[in-house]
Amino acid sequence: MRDFSYFCAMAGIYIHIPFCNSKCAYCGFYSIPSLMLKERFLEALKTEIITRKDYLHDEVINTIYFGGGTPSLLTKEKIDGLLHLINNTYPVSKYPEITLEANPDTLSLEYLEGLRKIGVNRLSIGIQSFFDNDLQYLSRRHDSQHARQCIEWAKQAGFDNISIDLIYGLPTSDAEQWNRNLDIFFELSLPHLSAYALTLEHNAILTKQIELGKVQPINEEDALRDYEILCRRAAQNGYLHYEISNFCQRGMHSKHNSSYWFGTPYAGFGPSAHSYDGSSRQWNVANVEKYCSFSSLDEKEQISPEQHYNEYVMLRLRTHWGIDLKYMKREMGERFSTYCEQHAQPLIAQGRLSQTREFLYLTDAQMLFADGVAEELFWE
Ligand SMILES: C[S@@+](CC[C@H](N)C(=O)[O-])C[C@H]1O[C@@H](n2cnc3c(N)ncnc32)[C@H](O)[C@@H]1O
Ligand code: SF4
Repeated sequence: MRDFSYFCAMAGIYIHIPFCNSKCAYCGFYSIPSLMLKERFLEALKTEIITRKDYLHDEVINTIYFGGGTPSLLTKEKIDGLLHLINNTYPVSKYPEITLEANPDTLSLEYLEGLRKIGVNRLSIGIQSFFDNDLQYLSRRHDSQHARQCIEWAKQAGFDNISIDLIYGLPTSDAEQWNRNLDIFFELSLPHLSAYALTLEHNAILTKQIELGKVQPINEEDALRDYEILCRRAAQNGYLHYEISNFCQRGMHSKHNSSYWFGTPYAGFGPSAHSYDGSSRQWNVANVEKYCSFSSLDEKEQISPEQHYNEYVMLRLRTHWGIDLKYMKREMGERFSTYCEQHAQPLIAQGRLSQTREFLYLTDAQMLFADGVAEELFWE
């Protein structure tokens, strides 16, 4: 059942913390494995938060997201300071969703209790796998025992909105092991799961290692197999598959990430962070040193109506909400909704796309191929 009833989109703030204890082999996100520039970075970050205060035109901020990198490398005092600054600079709603991405190797019960006290109310923990052979392949710093320990600590610290990240399609795991990973997740009864197919990023060490034949290569069929298992087991356990990689218990979707898919404005602070104000997109330079020298803005682009249409199609097909043709007609004009509906017909006939009344959407099984379907609907 496709359910929209609980969704509410409001503006958000994203803060990119560009430091990690070490670089994981597969990771393509911008971060550096050194904390040397931490204090300079925090000063530059505070300046950016203040100087860009008009970017969202006084829209109420409903979500604040600390992503990375490894935000849990910052002390609770530093995070508290940033939250105070945001509250003093922006109109923040009474009960904002405040998420922090946390790496198991940086967590302790005391730290998690501190985060809870300063108002962080959602944790996204990068577990990746509950099996040591997978964690070693991914060059993670934690082991399976510590992964479980962190989740217990998070619960003990009073977090009830906990998400974990898992990665599937690993050559170190077979269907049985992936099923065991999911067993553990369901036994923990956490409200949210982000599960990603391992991708080889052009700038990641793992990609190079595979090219050189130094580590086991990945296999697309393993990812497909695991994805099918994931969709089936999530549905059996009552989780809503609301985006290709995201699953939640009712009402427990990430409000912050959903805003990206709903095209709500957001301001991104920190190196490599992106921002969107409803009509243009801009992104900061992916370099901490340059960021600290206040040459933060890298590029800005005005979004044309055609681009807006393409982005809407691409983002919405990745979600369970799908494309709303009525909305498209109202917001973008009839030429776009008619174009979309016409181009959708052959895809529907081929079983690659589904339609219910004014919605075009992908079923669980079709969702993994969202990018290919979106391309066929793009404005040319
Ligand atoms: C922004 S990252 C970092 C979060 C946090 N630093 C950590 O590692 O736990 C968010 C998530 O993206 C996923 N991810 C990153 N690179 C990936 C890749 N190449 N393939 C699949 N998933 C990836 C991981 O599950 C990771 O936890
Ligand atoms: S996966 Fe997380 S911890 Fe590992 S390098 Fe990327 S951002 Fe850092």
